[in-house]
Amino acid sequence: MIPQTYIQELIARTNIEELIGSYTQLKRAGRTYKGLCPFHSERTPSFVVYPDNQSFYCFGCGAGGDAITFVKKINNLDYVESVKFLASRAGMKLPEEDDAQGRLRSRVNALNRDAARFYFERMNSEKGVQARKYWRGRGLSDATIRRFGLGYAPDSFRETFVHLKSKGYTEEELLASGIVKKSEKGNLYDVFRNRVMIPIFDVRGNVIAFGGRNLGDEKPKYINSPETLVYKKSHTIFALNLAKKSASKRYILCEGYLDVISLHQAGFDTAVAACGTALTAEQVRMLSDYAEEVVLCYDSDEAGQKATSRAMELFESSTVKVTVLTLPNEKDPDEFIKRRGAAAFEQLLEGAGNTLEYKMAKFREKYDLRQPDGQVNYLKDCIELLALAATPTEQDVYAGRLSKEFGVEKRNILAQLENVSRINGRRRQRQIQRDLLKEGAAASIRLPVGISGEQALGVAMAQQQLVAALLKQPELLAQVKGKVAPDDFLQPELKEAFALILQREQDELPFDLPTLSGELSEASMAQLSKILAQNYEMTFAQEDIQLYLDRIQAGQTTSKAAAEMQPDQLAEYFERIKKRKQTIELSEQE
Ligand code: GTP
Ligand code: MN
Repeated sequence: MIPQTYIQELIARTNIEELIGSYTQLKRAGRTYKGLCPFHSERTPSFVVYPDNQSFYCFGCGAGGDAITFVKKINNLDYVESVKFLASRAGMKLPEEDDAQGRLRSRVNALNRDAARFYFERMNSEKGVQARKYWRGRGLSDATIRRFGLGYAPDSFRETFVHLKSKGYTEEELLASGIVKKSEKGNLYDVFRNRVMIPIFDVRGNVIAFGGRNLGDEKPKYINSPETLVYKKSHTIFALNLAKKSASKRYILCEGYLDVISLHQAGFDTAVAACGTALTAEQVRMLSDYAEEVVLCYDSDEAGQKATSRAMELFESSTVKVTVLTLPNEKDPDEFIKRRGAAAFEQLLEGAGNTLEYKMAKFREKYDLRQPDGQVNYLKDCIELLALAATPTEQDVYAGRLSKEFGVEKRNILAQLENVSRINGRRRQRQIQRDLLKEGAAASIRLPVGISGEQALGVAMAQQQLVAALLKQPELLAQVKGKVAPDDFLQPELKEAFALILQREQDELPFDLPTLSGELSEASMAQLSKILAQNYEMTFAQEDIQLYLDRIQAGQTTSKAAAEMQPDQLAEYFERIKKRKQTIELSEQE
């Protein structure tokens, strides 16, 4: 367990708007910050960061929590990993990282470096002829091989292991590096055998892992290092250590190690590749630390094009400008460079389209543009896209181009654009109203008499308010203690939270949102952030608390029925009641 005092210091040292702001662009709005939600795709911001209580909440998708939850969700990490992530960001010593663990880490780093040297030497030895031939065959110069530290793992189960052992590394260190594995019989053996080796460096230049490629066409083509205590794929970008030294801020993001190596050799020294199978939010954030523009340069096959769409989405909320390079006939940048040369690639780069152009080119492939039908549908798709995703200037430029190409009056296209925008806007407005109703109305619900269901709703709302009050003003707990029990709570998320709050109080520990996050479920964290978001401007008085307690008590007998419902049944039930209540209020006004 990580001590609470540690978490408190971590939270104090973490600036939540700065943390989240490195994943999605935030704009100040009073005491809060707003931006596009990094957890779901949206065009109008419904994601809010609340520095006062160190939380975030998305009114669009319901994601919410504190800084730790955010890191957990965006990077797919567990709680402890997220704490470590924030700790290294805040420059704090890692929790539980006793000296033994820190020592192991630096030993593994040293071991990896020694292994890379060993692979390099082997490549240059007599037994490395095939490997040298392989790299030559791929068109790589000696300078490139040295620059990337490429090598060769000998065709043996023990050579690497024996060598490293002779350097003094222990079994624990060898296993921790991922270079050596233990067989079922308990023998240690080399993971990389008869493969050309590509070391993977972190941004600081430590060797942290390897990719080992088969010399022929046999499968698997690559064996990559497993995740270790120094290597996390989702947090690693191949060749970023080299690219970051370039004067250019335009990065080229490819799929394969060899694409990257080839591009560097051809003079494009900002080529990088994401480690792991799919680009991650953390990799996007890392890139945005160095790059102003990222050119997506994935393979031209279907998988590559899928990856392109995904990457475009991930970059949507970042500060980086994204363009897409389409390879005309070649499979990947490596092949392109070989066949057509660096100058031709430079031209492609210059012509790399923005994401609008890329998407429009994809529409083009869908239709037969020689047919009027195809033209109409193509135009429709383009107008839809431009209405949704383009700035007014872009709309004007592309409307002009479409008009020229299809002989349609530009003002007709612009008129249609406006039309679609209006419809979209109305749709969005309606959605916002629905959301507001769903989220905001909750706080103002009054408790009607006589109807058990509505009473249950009132109780649930009072309970929400009560928990919000306790999170914001812990001193109010004295007034609540003994009056309500965790089991009284209708929503399981709140029951969980309230039980933990009582526990914390007993242990004389704090119970604000960030300190709770380690022990609460994600659903509960989201619920708490939501009620905090709803009560952002609220200061609770003792009278408020009394009111909530009264409501809860009054509803206790009738709330049983609701308590037996499943969470989604309950939610639906609330919705229904709210709607009814609204209609009543409306008809009363008339
Ligand atoms: P070449 O085919 O030699 O040009 O290699 P490449 O580096 O260009 O690889 P490719 O574009 O085929 O694949 C992209 C990336 O996916 C590689 O760099 C590897 O990281 C990974 N990859 C490809 N094949 C395998 C495999 O068989 N196993 C694993 N684990 N990863 C692979
Ligand atoms: Mn390739």
